[in-house]
Amino acid sequence: MIAKRDHGNRMIGFLPGERAERFEPSTTFPMDLTQHPPRSPRATLGGFVLLPRFLDKARAQVAGTLGAYKLGPDSVLDRRLLEFLGIGLEPLLAIVRAGADDGVLLRWIRQTGAAHSAEEVQAWSSNWTQLLAKDDPDRQAYIGKVLEATGLPAATTTVFDWLDFDDRQTFPAAPRLPLAFLGVGSVGLGLARRYADLGHRVSVVARSPQSASVARARAACPALEVLSSGEGLDPAAVVFLCTPFAAAGEALQALGSRLDGRLVVDCTNPVGPGLTHGLENRGSGTAQWQARFPKARFVKAFSIYGFENFATDPRTVVGRPPVMLLAGDDAGARQEVGRLVASAGWEPLEAGDASAALHLEHLTLLWIKLVRLGGQPATTTWAWLRSAFAA
Ligand SMILES: NC(=O)c1ccc[n+]([C@@H]2O[C@H](COP(=O)([O-])OP(=O)(O)OC[C@H]3O[C@@H](n4cnc5c(N)ncnc54)[C@H](OP(=O)(O)O)[C@@H]3O)[C@@H](O)[C@H]2O)c1
Repeated sequence: MIAKRDHGNRMIGFLPGERAERFEPSTTFPMDLTQHPPRSPRATLGGFVLLPRFLDKARAQVAGTLGAYKLGPDSVLDRRLLEFLGIGLEPLLAIVRAGADDGVLLRWIRQTGAAHSAEEVQAWSSNWTQLLAKDDPDRQAYIGKVLEATGLPAATTTVFDWLDFDDRQTFPAAPRLPLAFLGVGSVGLGLARRYADLGHRVSVVARSPQSASVARARAACPALEVLSSGEGLDPAAVVFLCTPFAAAGEALQALGSRLDGRLVVDCTNPVGPGLTHGLENRGSGTAQWQARFPKARFVKAFSIYGFENFATDPRTVVGRPPVMLLAGDDAGARQEVGRLVASAGWEPLEAGDASAALHLEHLTLLWIKLVRLGGQPATTTWAWLRSAFAA
């Protein structure tokens, strides 16, 4: 038996025919397609559209959670993908079962499947992306009537548009809350862009509507509304606290009674000299804000990684949802933030009440040391690992 090893001599997976005794457990995660759709057909892996979606379905098949989705021979698109890749379903499922992540699977596909140049892959993906649903020979018999019934224009609706639409119908998105940012620098802007892309109404309560950060944010995220004070703040808006830690008290104070009952996502980090905890470990920043503004409901989130990770879907970067740790006193508020976090592609994990945010703040210091000082990539994120097969 030969274990495949990467440069760091880390065990990463096995190829068919090899008897796998151990595998890298960090490479699998539960995929439950009874609860959420697979990745969009547009998502790519190694340049192949359809492949991430197919792998999500394969993982769900292995976990027994395929739901109403079809896999392999039962799905026209899978059949054509498998044909182009030159691989069989069963050997691939064997590797999925062993816990392989997207990277390992792609390598296996390239090693065992049909050889294609980058141009061929690009052309194939581009054809698929542009194929109109009405021109797809496998759909022609029924798609006209289906599109008419749904109101989608037959002249422009692609196969991928149709699949995305179908996913959205099957799993309607969580209600899109208005989101208001205190601070739209690196972190606030990244999150505002991500949530604007997801269809949320985003605004910034700016201390100075003419400031450089607000101008930059408006240019990068035209949907961002600028409120010069808390006066226009939607009563239902969730506030994202994204100012420097030292300025957060002043920014919150300025909202006055508008903070009462409000859900506040605390993205701030108290960072002291020499990358120490800025409150000298006496308590977490979140606990401090909660004590000072007791009528608001603070939940720490989006604090443990660099801002570079927030504007895009993290699943498309690392092939799985990285974990996002949350901490706050109000259980309902933690759940609400968990839903927002999950909708952006992260796996929410509740760490506990506001006092537990102290551990998140230390995790941030570790991330800063590893990445900003240690040279690890800014896309470094943590994963929540547990058995994909346990009940
Ligand atoms: N940078 C990261 O990678 C990262 C990652 C996770 C968490 N964090 C935490 O997130 C927070 C924001 O970091 P950042 O890097 O985004 O900071 P930043 O780029 O310096 O942006 C700060 C923003 O806060 C605004 N602001 C400052 N004082 C204010 C006040 N009194 N009232 C209202 N708005 C005010 C600034 O607006 P003006 O234009 O008016 O100055 C600016 O839009 C920090 O607490 C940081 O520890 C940072």
